[in-house]
Amino acid sequence: MKNRIIKISGIFCLAILVLLGMSLSSQIAKKAELDPYKLEIPEGFPEPIIPENNLLTSERIELGRMLFYDPVLSIDSTVSCASCHKQDLAFADDVHISPGVEDRLAARNAPTLTNVVYNPTVLFDGFLETLEKQILVPIQEHAEFAHNIVDISEKLAKDSTYSSMSWRAYERKIDPFVITRSISSFERTLISGNSKYDQEVFQKKDVLSKSEKRGMNLFFDKLECAECHSGFNFTNFSTQNNGLYEVYEDTGRMRATKLEEDRAMFKVPTLRNIELTAPYMHDGSIATLDEVIDHYQSGGKNHVNKSDKIQPFTLTKREKKDLINFLKCLTDDDFISNPDFSNPFE
Ligand code: HEC
Ligand code: HEC
Repeated sequence: MKNRIIKISGIFCLAILVLLGMSLSSQIAKKAELDPYKLEIPEGFPEPIIPENNLLTSERIELGRMLFYDPVLSIDSTVSCASCHKQDLAFADDVHISPGVEDRLAARNAPTLTNVVYNPTVLFDGFLETLEKQILVPIQEHAEFAHNIVDISEKLAKDSTYSSMSWRAYERKIDPFVITRSISSFERTLISGNSKYDQEVFQKKDVLSKSEKRGMNLFFDKLECAECHSGFNFTNFSTQNNGLYEVYEDTGRMRATKLEEDRAMFKVPTLRNIELTAPYMHDGSIATLDEVIDHYQSGGKNHVNKSDKIQPFTLTKREKKDLINFLKCLTDDDFISNPDFSNPFE
Protein backbone atom coordinates (compact mmCIF):
# COMPACT_ATOMS: atom_id res chain seq x y z
CA MET A 1 0.00 0.00 0.00
CA LYS A 2 2.70 2.44 1.10
CA ASN A 3 4.72 1.47 -1.96
CA ARG A 4 1.76 2.07 -4.21
CA ILE A 5 1.20 5.51 -2.74
CA ILE A 6 4.83 6.38 -3.28
CA LYS A 7 4.65 5.02 -6.81
CA ILE A 8 1.45 6.88 -7.60
CA SER A 9 2.69 10.11 -6.09
CA GLY A 10 5.94 9.56 -7.99
CA ILE A 11 4.06 9.30 -11.27
CA PHE A 12 1.95 12.27 -10.25
CA CYS A 13 5.06 14.37 -9.55
CA LEU A 14 6.55 13.32 -12.85
CA ALA A 15 3.37 14.27 -14.66
CA ILE A 16 3.36 17.66 -12.96
CA LEU A 17 6.99 18.16 -13.90
CA VAL A 18 6.30 17.22 -17.52
CA LEU A 19 3.27 19.49 -17.63
CA LEU A 20 5.24 22.31 -16.03
CA GLY A 21 8.05 21.73 -18.48
CA MET A 22 5.64 21.78 -21.39
CA SER A 23 3.94 24.95 -20.32
CA LEU A 24 7.32 26.50 -19.58
CA SER A 25 8.68 25.68 -23.01
CA SER A 26 5.53 26.86 -24.76
CA GLN A 27 5.76 30.03 -22.72
CA ILE A 28 9.32 30.45 -23.90
CA ALA A 29 8.29 29.79 -27.50
CA LYS A 30 5.57 32.39 -27.15
CA LYS A 31 8.01 34.77 -25.57
CA ALA A 32 10.40 34.42 -28.52
CA GLU A 33 7.49 35.08 -30.86
CA LEU A 34 5.99 37.90 -28.88
CA ASP A 35 9.14 39.44 -27.54
CA PRO A 36 11.65 39.59 -30.38
CA TYR A 37 14.67 41.72 -29.67
CA LYS A 38 14.33 45.02 -31.47
CA LEU A 39 17.58 46.18 -33.04
CA GLU A 40 18.10 49.91 -32.89
CA ILE A 41 18.62 50.92 -36.49
CA PRO A 42 20.56 54.18 -36.90
CA GLU A 43 19.20 57.03 -38.98
CA GLY A 44 20.03 56.44 -42.66
CA PHE A 45 20.52 52.68 -42.29
CA PRO A 46 18.23 50.09 -43.91
CA GLU A 47 16.42 47.42 -41.88
CA PRO A 48 18.77 44.40 -41.79
CA ILE A 49 17.60 40.93 -42.78
CA ILE A 50 17.44 38.54 -39.81
CA PRO A 51 17.06 34.86 -40.84
CA GLU A 52 13.59 33.44 -40.10
CA ASN A 53 15.15 30.41 -38.43
CA ASN A 54 17.14 32.52 -35.98
CA LEU A 55 15.09 35.52 -34.93
CA LEU A 56 16.72 37.70 -32.31
CA THR A 57 15.77 37.47 -28.64
CA SER A 58 17.70 38.85 -25.69
CA GLU A 59 18.26 35.29 -24.39
CA ARG A 60 19.96 34.27 -27.64
CA ILE A 61 22.08 37.41 -27.80
CA GLU A 62 23.23 37.04 -24.21
CA LEU A 63 24.23 33.40 -24.70
CA GLY A 64 26.09 34.30 -27.91
CA ARG A 65 27.87 37.13 -26.17
CA MET A 66 29.15 34.78 -23.46
CA LEU A 67 30.36 32.25 -26.02
CA PHE A 68 32.02 35.00 -28.07
CA TYR A 69 34.13 35.95 -25.06
CA ASP A 70 34.71 32.42 -23.71
CA PRO A 71 38.07 30.77 -24.51
CA VAL A 72 36.39 27.40 -23.89
CA LEU A 73 35.78 27.29 -27.64
CA SER A 74 39.49 26.71 -28.32
CA ILE A 75 41.20 23.36 -27.88
CA ASP A 76 43.33 24.48 -24.91
CA SER A 77 40.93 27.16 -23.62
CA THR A 78 43.35 30.00 -24.38
CA VAL A 79 41.75 31.86 -27.29
CA SER A 80 38.25 33.31 -27.74
CA CYS A 81 36.60 35.09 -30.66
CA ALA A 82 37.37 38.30 -28.78
CA SER A 83 41.12 37.54 -28.76
CA CYS A 84 41.16 38.56 -32.44
CA HIS A 85 37.99 40.69 -32.59
CA LYS A 86 38.48 43.27 -29.81
CA GLN A 87 35.76 45.75 -28.91
CA ASP A 88 38.13 48.70 -28.36
CA LEU A 89 39.44 48.09 -31.90
CA ALA A 90 35.93 47.91 -33.41
CA PHE A 91 36.12 44.12 -33.18
CA ALA A 92 39.29 43.93 -35.29
CA ASP A 93 42.90 43.49 -34.11
CA ASP A 94 46.02 45.68 -34.19
CA VAL A 95 48.50 43.08 -35.44
CA HIS A 96 48.82 42.06 -39.04
CA ILE A 97 48.08 38.41 -38.26
CA SER A 98 46.38 37.49 -34.97
CA PRO A 99 47.73 34.41 -33.20
CA GLY A 100 45.43 31.45 -32.53
CA VAL A 101 46.13 28.56 -30.14
CA GLU A 102 49.84 27.93 -29.43
CA ASP A 103 50.55 31.24 -31.17
CA ARG A 104 49.88 29.67 -34.57
CA LEU A 105 49.51 32.19 -37.39
CA ALA A 106 47.14 31.97 -40.33
CA ALA A 107 47.42 34.19 -43.41
CA ARG A 108 44.78 36.87 -43.13
CA ASN A 109 44.20 40.01 -41.07
CA ALA A 110 41.28 39.94 -38.63
CA PRO A 111 38.60 42.20 -40.09
CA THR A 112 36.22 44.42 -38.12
CA LEU A 113 32.83 42.96 -37.20
CA THR A 114 31.25 46.43 -37.52
CA ASN A 115 27.78 46.05 -39.07
CA VAL A 116 28.32 42.40 -40.13
CA VAL A 117 24.54 41.96 -39.95
CA TYR A 118 24.43 43.72 -43.32
CA ASN A 119 27.08 41.61 -45.06
CA PRO A 120 25.56 39.39 -47.77
CA THR A 121 28.78 37.36 -47.58
CA VAL A 122 31.47 37.06 -44.94
CA LEU A 123 35.25 36.53 -45.17
CA PHE A 124 37.58 38.17 -47.68
CA ASP A 125 36.55 35.56 -50.27
CA GLY A 126 33.11 37.15 -50.49
CA PHE A 127 31.59 33.72 -50.82
CA LEU A 128 30.35 32.27 -47.52
CA GLU A 129 26.79 33.41 -47.01
CA THR A 130 25.87 33.26 -43.36
CA LEU A 131 27.35 34.17 -40.02
CA GLU A 132 26.10 30.82 -38.73
CA LYS A 133 28.33 28.93 -41.18
CA GLN A 134 31.27 31.24 -40.57
CA ILE A 135 31.49 30.24 -36.89
CA LEU A 136 32.65 26.76 -37.91
CA VAL A 137 35.72 28.24 -39.61
CA PRO A 138 37.60 29.58 -36.55
CA ILE A 139 36.44 26.60 -34.47
CA GLN A 140 38.11 24.09 -36.81
CA GLU A 141 41.03 26.14 -38.20
CA HIS A 142 44.38 24.78 -37.05
CA ALA A 143 45.66 28.35 -36.56
CA GLU A 144 42.58 29.54 -34.66
CA PHE A 145 40.72 27.27 -32.17
CA ALA A 146 41.84 23.88 -33.63
CA HIS A 147 38.77 22.36 -32.01
CA ASN A 148 35.63 20.41 -32.84
CA ILE A 149 32.12 21.78 -32.30
CA VAL A 150 30.73 18.40 -31.19
CA ASP A 151 33.32 18.13 -28.42
CA ILE A 152 32.67 21.73 -27.43
CA SER A 153 28.92 21.03 -27.21
CA GLU A 154 29.51 18.05 -24.94
CA LYS A 155 31.73 20.09 -22.67
CA LEU A 156 29.26 23.00 -22.49
CA ALA A 157 26.31 20.68 -21.83
CA LYS A 158 27.95 19.79 -18.51
CA ASP A 159 27.99 23.45 -17.49
CA SER A 160 24.78 24.33 -15.68
CA THR A 161 24.79 28.01 -16.69
CA TYR A 162 25.25 27.32 -20.40
CA SER A 163 22.85 24.45 -20.24
CA SER A 164 20.01 26.48 -18.76
CA MET A 165 20.74 29.47 -21.00
CA SER A 166 20.53 27.18 -24.02
CA TRP A 167 17.11 25.85 -22.98
CA ARG A 168 15.84 29.36 -22.39
CA ALA A 169 17.16 30.65 -25.70
CA TYR A 170 16.43 27.76 -28.07
CA GLU A 171 14.45 25.20 -26.02
CA ARG A 172 17.05 22.51 -26.54
CA LYS A 173 20.28 21.35 -25.01
CA ILE A 174 23.40 23.16 -26.07
CA ASP A 175 24.64 21.73 -29.37
CA PRO A 176 26.24 22.97 -32.61
CA PHE A 177 22.89 24.46 -33.67
CA VAL A 178 22.70 26.57 -30.52
CA ILE A 179 26.37 27.57 -30.54
CA THR A 180 26.40 28.82 -34.13
CA ARG A 181 23.03 30.54 -33.91
CA SER A 182 23.56 32.28 -30.60
CA ILE A 183 26.98 33.68 -31.51
CA SER A 184 25.52 34.93 -34.81
CA SER A 185 22.70 36.60 -32.88
CA PHE A 186 25.23 38.50 -30.78
CA GLU A 187 27.20 39.49 -33.90
CA ARG A 188 24.03 40.85 -35.52
CA THR A 189 23.71 43.41 -32.72
CA LEU A 190 27.14 44.92 -33.45
CA ILE A 191 25.76 47.94 -35.26
CA SER A 192 27.76 51.13 -35.55
CA GLY A 193 26.01 54.25 -36.81
CA ASN A 194 26.83 57.19 -34.61
CA SER A 195 30.11 58.45 -36.02
CA LYS A 196 30.71 62.12 -36.77
CA TYR A 197 29.89 61.30 -40.39
CA ASP A 198 26.47 59.92 -39.33
CA GLN A 199 25.81 62.93 -37.15
CA GLU A 200 26.59 65.28 -40.04
CA VAL A 201 24.92 63.41 -42.91
CA PHE A 202 22.07 61.43 -41.38
CA GLN A 203 21.34 63.32 -38.16
CA LYS A 204 21.81 66.69 -39.88
CA LYS A 205 24.03 68.16 -37.18
CA ASP A 206 26.75 70.50 -38.27
CA VAL A 207 29.76 68.70 -36.77
CA LEU A 208 32.38 68.29 -39.52
CA SER A 209 35.31 70.70 -39.66
CA LYS A 210 36.26 72.43 -42.92
CA SER A 211 39.10 69.98 -43.45
CA GLU A 212 36.83 66.97 -42.85
CA LYS A 213 34.29 68.36 -45.35
CA ARG A 214 36.99 68.87 -47.97
CA GLY A 215 38.09 65.28 -47.33
CA MET A 216 34.52 64.08 -47.77
CA ASN A 217 34.31 65.80 -51.15
CA LEU A 218 37.58 64.22 -52.24
CA PHE A 219 36.33 60.78 -51.16
CA PHE A 220 32.98 61.00 -52.92
CA ASP A 221 33.65 63.32 -55.86
CA LYS A 222 37.21 63.83 -57.05
CA LEU A 223 38.53 60.36 -56.23
CA GLU A 224 36.63 57.23 -57.04
CA CYS A 225 36.68 55.73 -53.55
CA ALA A 226 32.89 55.54 -53.39
CA GLU A 227 32.78 53.45 -56.56
CA CYS A 228 33.54 50.56 -54.21
CA HIS A 229 33.31 51.96 -50.69
CA SER A 230 29.76 53.20 -51.22
CA GLY A 231 26.48 53.54 -49.36
CA PHE A 232 25.71 53.70 -45.66
CA ASN A 233 28.29 51.01 -44.87
CA PHE A 234 31.05 52.24 -47.19
CA THR A 235 31.09 49.06 -49.25
CA ASN A 236 29.16 47.87 -52.29
CA PHE A 237 29.67 44.34 -50.91
CA SER A 238 31.35 43.20 -54.14
CA THR A 239 34.75 41.54 -54.55
CA GLN A 240 37.44 43.59 -56.30
CA ASN A 241 41.15 43.75 -56.90
CA ASN A 242 42.74 47.03 -55.81
CA GLY A 243 46.22 46.33 -57.16
CA LEU A 244 48.19 45.51 -54.02
CA TYR A 245 50.54 43.07 -55.78
CA GLU A 246 51.49 41.83 -59.21
CA VAL A 247 51.58 38.32 -57.77
CA TYR A 248 49.38 37.54 -54.79
CA GLU A 249 50.18 34.79 -52.32
CA ASP A 250 46.51 34.69 -51.35
CA THR A 251 44.19 33.69 -54.19
CA GLY A 252 41.25 35.59 -52.62
CA ARG A 253 37.80 34.60 -53.87
CA MET A 254 39.36 31.96 -56.12
CA ARG A 255 40.09 29.99 -52.94
CA ALA A 256 36.35 29.37 -52.73
CA THR A 257 35.26 29.31 -56.39
CA LYS A 258 38.40 27.88 -58.11
CA LEU A 259 37.70 30.31 -60.95
CA GLU A 260 40.62 32.16 -62.54
CA GLU A 261 38.45 35.29 -62.89
CA ASP A 262 38.25 35.40 -59.07
CA ARG A 263 42.01 35.30 -58.52
CA ALA A 264 43.10 37.94 -55.98
CA MET A 265 39.58 39.34 -55.73
CA PHE A 266 38.78 40.41 -52.17
CA LYS A 267 35.59 41.59 -50.52
CA VAL A 268 35.46 45.39 -50.41
CA PRO A 269 35.75 46.11 -46.68
CA THR A 270 33.63 48.63 -44.83
CA LEU A 271 35.57 51.77 -43.93
CA ARG A 272 33.57 52.38 -40.76
CA ASN A 273 35.87 52.66 -37.71
CA ILE A 274 38.83 52.47 -40.11
CA GLU A 275 40.96 54.60 -37.78
CA LEU A 276 40.83 51.74 -35.23
CA THR A 277 41.42 48.74 -37.47
CA ALA A 278 45.03 49.16 -38.67
CA PRO A 279 46.94 47.39 -40.11
CA TYR A 280 45.02 47.24 -43.37
CA MET A 281 44.15 44.93 -46.30
CA HIS A 282 43.52 41.16 -46.29
CA ASP A 283 47.08 40.45 -45.15
CA GLY A 284 47.54 43.45 -42.88
CA SER A 285 50.40 44.57 -45.14
CA ILE A 286 49.71 48.32 -44.97
CA ALA A 287 50.37 49.86 -41.57
CA THR A 288 48.74 53.30 -41.72
CA LEU A 289 46.02 55.28 -43.50
CA ASP A 290 48.75 57.55 -44.84
CA GLU A 291 50.31 54.57 -46.61
CA VAL A 292 46.91 53.30 -47.82
CA ILE A 293 46.47 56.62 -49.61
CA ASP A 294 50.00 56.36 -51.04
CA HIS A 295 48.96 53.00 -52.43
CA TYR A 296 45.86 54.42 -54.15
CA GLN A 297 47.78 57.47 -55.41
CA SER A 298 50.25 55.15 -57.14
CA GLY A 299 47.42 53.50 -59.07
CA GLY A 300 48.41 50.09 -57.68
CA LYS A 301 50.38 47.25 -59.24
CA ASN A 302 49.40 45.63 -62.48
CA HIS A 303 47.23 42.60 -62.05
CA VAL A 304 44.95 41.14 -64.71
CA ASN A 305 41.97 41.46 -62.37
CA LYS A 306 42.77 44.97 -61.12
CA SER A 307 39.68 47.18 -61.31
CA ASP A 308 39.85 50.02 -63.85
CA LYS A 309 38.57 52.28 -61.06
CA ILE A 310 42.05 52.08 -59.53
CA GLN A 311 43.92 54.84 -61.40
CA PRO A 312 46.87 56.99 -60.30
CA PHE A 313 46.15 60.47 -58.92
CA THR A 314 48.06 63.16 -57.07
CA LEU A 315 47.00 64.89 -53.87
CA THR A 316 48.60 67.93 -52.29
CA LYS A 317 49.81 67.54 -48.73
CA ARG A 318 46.75 69.37 -47.50
CA GLU A 319 44.35 67.22 -49.55
CA LYS A 320 45.91 64.04 -48.19
CA LYS A 321 45.48 65.34 -44.64
CA ASP A 322 41.85 66.27 -45.42
CA LEU A 323 41.11 62.79 -46.75
CA ILE A 324 42.59 61.15 -43.65
CA ASN A 325 40.67 63.54 -41.40
CA PHE A 326 37.49 62.53 -43.20
CA LEU A 327 38.20 58.81 -42.81
CA LYS A 328 38.65 59.39 -39.08
CA CYS A 329 35.09 60.80 -38.95
CA LEU A 330 33.91 57.22 -39.41
CA THR A 331 35.01 56.33 -35.87
CA ASP A 332 32.08 55.61 -33.56
CA ASP A 333 33.01 55.99 -29.89
CA ASP A 334 29.62 54.72 -28.69
CA PHE A 335 30.22 51.47 -30.56
CA ILE A 336 33.53 50.73 -28.89
CA SER A 337 32.27 51.65 -25.43
CA ASN A 338 28.78 50.09 -25.62
CA PRO A 339 28.45 47.98 -22.43
CA ASP A 340 26.10 45.55 -24.23
CA PHE A 341 28.99 44.47 -26.46
CA SER A 342 31.62 44.12 -23.73
CA ASN A 343 33.06 41.06 -22.03
CA PRO A 344 30.33 39.68 -19.74
CA PHE A 345 32.92 37.86 -17.59
CA GLU A 346 34.61 41.09 -16.49
C1 HEC B 1 43.01 33.78 -34.41
C2 HEC B 1 42.20 34.95 -34.71
C3 HEC B 1 40.72 34.80 -34.89
C4 HEC B 1 39.83 34.18 -34.05
C5 HEC B 1 40.10 33.43 -32.78
C6 HEC B 1 38.51 34.41 -34.63
N1 HEC B 1 38.62 35.14 -35.78
FE1 HEC B 1 37.11 35.82 -36.92
N2 HEC B 1 38.42 36.33 -38.34
C7 HEC B 1 39.78 36.24 -38.25
C8 HEC B 1 40.37 36.42 -39.56
C9 HEC B 1 41.84 36.39 -39.90
C10 HEC B 1 39.29 36.61 -40.46
C11 HEC B 1 39.37 36.77 -41.97
C12 HEC B 1 39.43 35.35 -42.53
C13 HEC B 1 39.15 35.22 -43.99
O1 HEC B 1 38.67 36.16 -44.63
O2 HEC B 1 39.40 34.13 -44.52
C14 HEC B 1 38.09 36.57 -39.65
C15 HEC B 1 36.82 36.79 -40.16
C16 HEC B 1 35.67 36.79 -39.40
C17 HEC B 1 34.35 37.18 -39.86
C18 HEC B 1 34.01 37.71 -41.24
C19 HEC B 1 33.79 39.19 -41.19
C20 HEC B 1 33.49 39.77 -42.55
O3 HEC B 1 32.90 40.83 -42.60
O4 HEC B 1 33.85 39.18 -43.56
C21 HEC B 1 33.49 37.00 -38.83
C22 HEC B 1 32.01 37.28 -38.82
C23 HEC B 1 34.26 36.49 -37.71
N3 HEC B 1 35.59 36.39 -38.09
C24 HEC B 1 33.75 36.12 -36.50
C25 HEC B 1 34.46 35.34 -35.58
C26 HEC B 1 33.84 34.60 -34.48
C27 HEC B 1 32.37 34.60 -34.16
C28 HEC B 1 34.84 33.96 -33.82
C29 HEC B 1 34.72 32.98 -32.68
C30 HEC B 1 33.86 31.83 -32.91
C31 HEC B 1 36.09 34.33 -34.51
N4 HEC B 1 35.80 35.14 -35.56
C32 HEC B 1 37.35 33.93 -34.09
C33 HEC B 1 40.49 36.01 -37.10
C34 HEC B 1 39.96 35.35 -35.99
C1 HEC C 1 37.84 49.10 -57.23
C2 HEC C 1 37.28 49.17 -55.91
C3 HEC C 1 37.95 50.09 -54.89
C4 HEC C 1 38.18 51.46 -54.97
C5 HEC C 1 37.83 52.38 -56.12
C6 HEC C 1 38.80 51.81 -53.72
N1 HEC C 1 38.94 50.73 -52.91
FE1 HEC C 1 39.66 50.73 -51.04
N2 HEC C 1 39.57 48.69 -51.01
C7 HEC C 1 39.08 47.89 -52.03
C8 HEC C 1 39.34 46.51 -51.72
C9 HEC C 1 38.94 45.31 -52.56
C10 HEC C 1 40.03 46.50 -50.50
C11 HEC C 1 40.57 45.26 -49.77
C12 HEC C 1 41.80 44.77 -50.51
C13 HEC C 1 42.52 43.65 -49.81
O1 HEC C 1 42.15 43.28 -48.70
O2 HEC C 1 43.49 43.15 -50.39
C14 HEC C 1 40.16 47.89 -50.08
C15 HEC C 1 40.74 48.32 -48.89
C16 HEC C 1 40.78 49.63 -48.46
C17 HEC C 1 41.21 50.04 -47.15
C18 HEC C 1 41.66 49.10 -46.04
C19 HEC C 1 40.46 48.54 -45.32
C20 HEC C 1 40.77 47.54 -44.27
O3 HEC C 1 39.94 47.35 -43.38
O4 HEC C 1 41.83 46.91 -44.30
C21 HEC C 1 41.10 51.39 -47.09
C22 HEC C 1 41.41 52.29 -45.92
C23 HEC C 1 40.61 51.82 -48.38
N3 HEC C 1 40.42 50.72 -49.18
C24 HEC C 1 40.38 53.15 -48.72
C25 HEC C 1 40.09 53.55 -50.00
C26 HEC C 1 40.15 54.93 -50.46
C27 HEC C 1 40.51 56.12 -49.58
C28 HEC C 1 39.83 54.92 -51.78
C29 HEC C 1 39.84 56.08 -52.74
C30 HEC C 1 41.11 56.72 -52.91
C31 HEC C 1 39.57 53.54 -52.16
N4 HEC C 1 39.75 52.75 -51.06
C32 HEC C 1 39.17 53.11 -53.40
C33 HEC C 1 38.45 48.34 -53.15
C34 HEC C 1 38.46 49.64 -53.60
